[in-house]
Amino acid sequence: MTPAAAFLNAMAQALSTMTLYAAGHPARERAIDRAHEALSELQDDLPNPRFTFLGGEVLLGRVPLRELQHWAWSPRLAEAGIQRLELLDRVSRDDLDAFLEEAYQRLAETRIDTAGLRQGRPSNIRYGEVGIRGEAAGEESTSEELVTATLSYSLGDEIEGISWLHGEVKEGRGLQLLEAEAIVRSLSVAMHGDQSYLIPLLQLKEYDQYTVTHSLNVAVLTMALAEFLGLGPREVRTFGIAGLLHDLGKVNVPEEILNKPGRLTEQERRVIFRHPSDGARIILESQHDLDLAAVVAYEHHIRVDGGGYPALRYRRSCHSASNLVHVCDVFDALRTRRPYREAWPAERALGMIEAGAGPEFDREIAETFVQMMRRWEGRVADLSIDEPTLELDAASPDPLAPEAPRAPA
Ligand SMILES: [Fe+2]
Ligand SMILES: [Fe+2]
Repeated sequence: MTPAAAFLNAMAQALSTMTLYAAGHPARERAIDRAHEALSELQDDLPNPRFTFLGGEVLLGRVPLRELQHWAWSPRLAEAGIQRLELLDRVSRDDLDAFLEEAYQRLAETRIDTAGLRQGRPSNIRYGEVGIRGEAAGEESTSEELVTATLSYSLGDEIEGISWLHGEVKEGRGLQLLEAEAIVRSLSVAMHGDQSYLIPLLQLKEYDQYTVTHSLNVAVLTMALAEFLGLGPREVRTFGIAGLLHDLGKVNVPEEILNKPGRLTEQERRVIFRHPSDGARIILESQHDLDLAAVVAYEHHIRVDGGGYPALRYRRSCHSASNLVHVCDVFDALRTRRPYREAWPAERALGMIEAGAGPEFDREIAETFVQMMRRWEGRVADLSIDEPTLELDAASPDPLAPEAPRAPA
């Protein structure tokens, strides 16, 4: 067992023991001792581990802990408001004891209110809801914990991740599947706040950042739409990866063409037209199990009426994931400022999607997308790529009535 899994198991064991024995009981103290030992061992290797508990999964940093797949404690901790656990520095036994006590209280549903938490003792353990990113970890190592009063949505890591991934592909080192999966998981975390659901979209600043911001936005929109349509978490993430990678073939298109302000020449258009098949090829050559992402990369510019590109020799329908990504792709492209035109307001872009429902876009998917964006208009959080963090004061009333995402009635 890895030290990370050993610590989490020991922590779970300690929490179970706490339900049986009161403070001071030797069995309880021993269980806490063991958890503390396991934590010290982990911190020998990894001084500042960061765990995320998401559904049945546990992430260490951005990488899923495969040995803790379907770990029963993950959803339990998440429900108790401990979706993220960060260790800033060496943790003393007393700190761990205090944290476990707090976690135990939360699990027992005698959840302490935020005011109570704020006077918590200084500790190197921070925890809280997801969507929260600690400000430069370690900077303020005395902070009690990640409080739930402010949700801070930040896509800084995801921007870095996708830029790195594009760079690797450009350099011919192939597609890093784990990184792509991690980005999508982390976007999913950012979208599912404690009580509300958000659609964080990046605003473009510099034209050369387009492929990065666009890839993340299309992934977010595709996941939101898949979820709105009622797909399960696994499919939502698979569609998200397809959205994230749909334009991967653009790594082969020179920046001058991508960002050309004027009309493209015939030859330049031919270069652009190659990105779907290039993308599909790159994905398949690197990762055989990403067949759906490869299909989407290939099909995302094909219209329902058979137009678009690459040209179809025989008319056929595209995969529903391609139809989803197609709509999200066009919407994000229109709402973004390009060298050759201004950004369109969301409502105008939605009008264009509505008009294209049928000939260009799958009718049902396009109409559902428009319905979703109108219903969740208030949930769209525009983030600047330079400051991709949004602070939401959770204390202010949520102006958005409907709770979790739902399939349309
Ligand atoms: Fe494309
Ligand atoms: Fe695109």
